[in-house]
Amino acid sequence: MRITRRVEFCAAHAYRNSAWSDEENRRVFGKAANLHGHNYVLEVTVEGAPSPSTGMIMDLKALKDLVMEEAVERLDHRNLIADVPEFRQTIPTPENLAVWIWRQLQPRLTDCRLQRIRLCEDLSYWVDYLGEETTDA
Ligand code: NI
Repeated sequence: MRITRRVEFCAAHAYRNSAWSDEENRRVFGKAANLHGHNYVLEVTVEGAPSPSTGMIMDLKALKDLVMEEAVERLDHRNLIADVPEFRQTIPTPENLAVWIWRQLQPRLTDCRLQRIRLCEDLSYWVDYLGEETTDA
């Protein structure tokens, strides 16, 4: 069984591969090479069996507190490149953000399993990360 917590945050980013020239970055990333912001919607899904004593997979307040502490407070109203050390080298695409969020949350979950990180940049675009292997690991 799965439960999902949804939260929102705002952050700014620009896409830039530091190994490339300005011209190459602009050719590949277009306008996304300019600093711009998104109102992100983050859904965190955990999976497990409801506890016989509480009837819950995980206390929803505890899940919200965890998501706020480990993800939202470190991303909200930030320039991801300037303010989050991991994104100085890693381009803060939603793909990479979803992996980053997974890595913050996963070690903190004990009684249930992180099943999915869904990160929406807007109403028409989102990524799902299920913990699969990534090339930078
Ligand atoms: Ni963007």
